Amino acid sequence: MAELVPVESFDIVIFGATGDLARRKLIPALFHRWCDDQIPENSRVIAVGRDEMSLEQFQSLAGEFVFAEGAEPARRARWAGFLEHMIYVAADAGGERAGWRDLKQILSSDPEKIRIFYLALPPSIYGQTCQAIKTHGLNTPHARVILEKPIGHDFHSAKRVNEAVGEVFPESSIFRIDHYLGKETVQNLLILRFANILLEPIWNANAIDHVQITVAESLGVGTRAGYYDRAGALRDMVQNHLLQLLCLVAMEPPSSLDAEQVRTEKLKVLRALRVIDVEDARHCLVRGQYASGLIDGGVAPGYAQEVGAPSQTETFVAIKAGIENWRWAGMPFYMRTGKRMQARRSEIVIQFKPVPHDIIQADAGSLQPNRLVIRLQPDEGVQLLMMTKDPGPGGVRLRYVPLNLSYADTFEKNYPDAYERLLMAVVRGNLGLFMRRDEVEAAWRWTDAVMQTWTEADTPLHLYKAGSDGPDKARLLLRRDGREWFDGDGRESAGT
Ligand code: BG6
Repeated sequence: MAELVPVESFDIVIFGATGDLARRKLIPALFHRWCDDQIPENSRVIAVGRDEMSLEQFQSLAGEFVFAEGAEPARRARWAGFLEHMIYVAADAGGERAGWRDLKQILSSDPEKIRIFYLALPPSIYGQTCQAIKTHGLNTPHARVILEKPIGHDFHSAKRVNEAVGEVFPESSIFRIDHYLGKETVQNLLILRFANILLEPIWNANAIDHVQITVAESLGVGTRAGYYDRAGALRDMVQNHLLQLLCLVAMEPPSSLDAEQVRTEKLKVLRALRVIDVEDARHCLVRGQYASGLIDGGVAPGYAQEVGAPSQTETFVAIKAGIENWRWAGMPFYMRTGKRMQARRSEIVIQFKPVPHDIIQADAGSLQPNRLVIRLQPDEGVQLLMMTKDPGPGGVRLRYVPLNLSYADTFEKNYPDAYERLLMAVVRGNLGLFMRRDEVEAAWRWTDAVMQTWTEADTPLHLYKAGSDGPDKARLLLRRDGREWFDGDGRESAGT
């Protein structure tokens, strides 16, 4: 049983508290940490929203998602206690309204306390909100700010956001969230790689044939069409989540788990990413958008129907990426992500090369190269597929079977979700789980180049059926190289 280490007491000010993120993720995350007695009694949640409403009104709004999935009775009993630590302030994010005076007064009771400002707001107003924090003298030495992704929508806007926030907070107080870094299985990537001696000697292009990173979702854009239609899958998922996964797989061993060491190694990967130019576009980039199709036994509408107009925004991307350094030169990293795919499934597959010489007689069955499957969600686990002799008499028969580390079978069932973990990391001041400014900007530089390439190359948008594995072109991306996408059980993807 993992030991829970309480954090210091803190005040968290959530701007955008009536929004989706705060209600779906942040309030439930804080509540769950409260229920596990990790949050000290004199901590406070100060919810800031634009709407005038009473505390009771806000509290009932806040409870909507906490209890939506049916909380255990023990947790329900803790809700009232949690609410006693909640305050609602109506204020605009720009610093004009009277609410800011209230906020100042509320916070002034203990200027020494850890103070966290969570900007659950559009990035375009991060700068002015930070300025307002400064104008009202709220950025004490113990203050920290959390920025939600996306930080900007390209390199230049990200730089502007970073500069504006940097005028108020030092880099060591800025926590840029990529919630994938808070996932248990993502954190395990560092442990898997650097706490086991087995893997490191073969973790390179000499022994690995290629890497696949898949983040598939079965949900569509839902209520986020306004944001999503301007973003698309490349900005929404690849620029942050998938590139972070790629960094953790490809980075050199840091000399310690110190935040700066880890972040510097990730940055080197981002800077070594091969730029995909127009010549490569046809072989390296696939864009797709879901059309109506069957999913979970019902007919799901197409993306254009969901956003209410024809759109050129991609809801699926597949990319063949490369990293130009000694360890990885010439070896492909295939990434794909899409909405409304057959199933929700995130995983990383490390496909090793075949043994150099086959000594087993042909009738024993075919030798398959080792494959390491790191299942991020759901059914978290790690599988190493190996060749084994099928036990029994009658000579050698080969079987390709997994060594299976299933989280469900091995560990306790409930561990904190990504936001719970990340919020507690901010209180502890652990920057290692957050993106540094230069990482975000380097990721944008590469992503901008991809967008420019597909504009110049006129990369087509392929429709795929909701409930499928994405457009056929994504399969061709690998087939052209003599490879197939894997479905995680060691089998090759069945196709649409
Ligand atoms: C968010 C994206 O960052 O990640 C969403 O904006 C996406 O579009 C979500 O659905 C996926 O997160 P998870 O944790 O459900 O894999």
